[in-house]
Amino acid sequence: MNSLLKCFSVLVGSSLAFVLVTLVYICPQRSMWCGISNIMKGNSDVTSDVLTNTLPRLYRFKREDIKIYNFGQSKTDVMVFLHIQKTGGTTFGRHLVTNLNITFACKCRRTPKLRCYCKRPSSDKIWLFSRHSLGWPCGLHSDWTEMQSCVPEFIRKRNGNVENQKYLYVTFLREPISRVLSEFRCYQRGTTWASSQHKCKGRQATEKELPPCYKGETWEDVTIDSFIGCKSNLAFNRQSRMLADLTLVNCYNETGMSYKKRQKIILKSAIRNLRSMAYFGLTEYQKESQYLFEKTFGIKFRKSFEQRDEEETRAADVRTDIDQEDLLRIKKLTANDIRLHRFAKELFFYRLKYFKDRDQREGLSR
Ligand SMILES: *[C@@H]1O[C@H](CO)[C@@H](O)[C@H](O)[C@H]1NC(C)=O
Ligand SMILES: *[C@@H]1O[C@H](CO)[C@@H](O)[C@H](O)[C@H]1NC(C)=O
Repeated sequence: MNSLLKCFSVLVGSSLAFVLVTLVYICPQRSMWCGISNIMKGNSDVTSDVLTNTLPRLYRFKREDIKIYNFGQSKTDVMVFLHIQKTGGTTFGRHLVTNLNITFACKCRRTPKLRCYCKRPSSDKIWLFSRHSLGWPCGLHSDWTEMQSCVPEFIRKRNGNVENQKYLYVTFLREPISRVLSEFRCYQRGTTWASSQHKCKGRQATEKELPPCYKGETWEDVTIDSFIGCKSNLAFNRQSRMLADLTLVNCYNETGMSYKKRQKIILKSAIRNLRSMAYFGLTEYQKESQYLFEKTFGIKFRKSFEQRDEEETRAADVRTDIDQEDLLRIKKLTANDIRLHRFAKELFFYRLKYFKDRDQREGLSR
């Protein structure tokens, strides 16, 4: 009896050890990532190497962080696209108006700009708030703060009073350094967003609060030095600023609070708002972003999203002729966005894993 027990415990012990060793060797990273990479290997649509995350996880997520909407069935939900400059938002915006396989697809024409009419079947009620469908009713590239005080009233005027009207916010985020460099290149080529209002607490930011970075019509031919040197350059930490509730930091008036405290509040607010949005995608993960969108809303795209090679982007173009010192300065000035992006990536892959697991349980995984 005794020896049988001994034998048994040795057996259990060695199996445990075997499992441990296997886990450590085969899955050196956190088991969550390991789990995804295994699942994803079987799916040719979604590349597996993107899930090789070398950073330790900082955030914990719960089931409530998974967002699921039955958008096709809903008669009243409105999708609201918050478009941050240089995040691939124009491409995503086009997918929304021309690429969804839904009965209530938008009707589009070119005039010569793409203009679309997006309404529910047998109703004049719109289901999409985006540039291609409405222009910029809340101001050019309106941010979270501007949209919060503008979208509900706008939709109410268009769609009438709806009980428990839901606004399903969607957005895209991009790796922050690339995004900044891309914005820099746009300025060099003469693009500006000068007509952005930066409204907050019912008024636009004043020139005193946001002194212009350049005189004249554009910032064409700006050097990297003056780009970095402009204190009110909104390119830095643009993503966190545009996702945060700016009323929490007295809008664009920076006198009442230290830079550090201001950035901290903005980051925290941006993270909270991003977390409660219905959906966000990541520019660097187009196929995964498409998949997540389809799972979140229960609707599909006709054609697959395409991933542009990083080397083909404007940012890569600039990166080659910027020295390390300037890159470091940019990194410092973009610290908030770097943190926000890290949060976003973790949440994005948490959601991805949830749906991949669900597919597998339902036997949908090929
Ligand atoms: C900024 O806010 C402070 C109070 O915190 C106020 O005294 C100051 O006039 C404001 N500055 C601007 C430019 O509005
Ligand atoms: C669109 O959806 C319908 C019905 O779900 C399906 O039969 C069709 O193949 C889809 N079209 C494309 C291009 O994916």
